[in-house]
Amino acid sequence: MPRFDHHVFVCTNERAAEDPKGSCAHKGSAALHQHLKVRCHQLGLKGKVRVNAAGCLDACAQGPAVVVYGANDPPEGVWYTLRTIADVDTVIEQHLVGGAPVDALRMRR
Ligand code: FES
Repeated sequence: MPRFDHHVFVCTNERAAEDPKGSCAHKGSAALHQHLKVRCHQLGLKGKVRVNAAGCLDACAQGPAVVVYGANDPPEGVWYTLRTIADVDTVIEQHLVGGAPVDALRMRR
């Protein structure tokens, strides 16, 4: 049995600015990670949703990369490209609280 309803990993990896691979940190992932943590706490999701910063998730070109694992999610997780605070709020509301992955924000691979 999973420990959390949802376990969220947000890539906060940072590469040098001149690195051609780029990095999620340069796309604002630290602020997105922080907002996700704060909002989940405000919504009383502690113990149900765990939010962790992660190293590179090997989806650099599609970042900021976020993956959600959960008991009712597919085993490979639900991968998102979350660019804005509004994107994060949508995933919190619809997926982490409502249980329905947000197709419009799924990562295009
Ligand atoms: S730097 Fe974020 S997925 Fe690689």
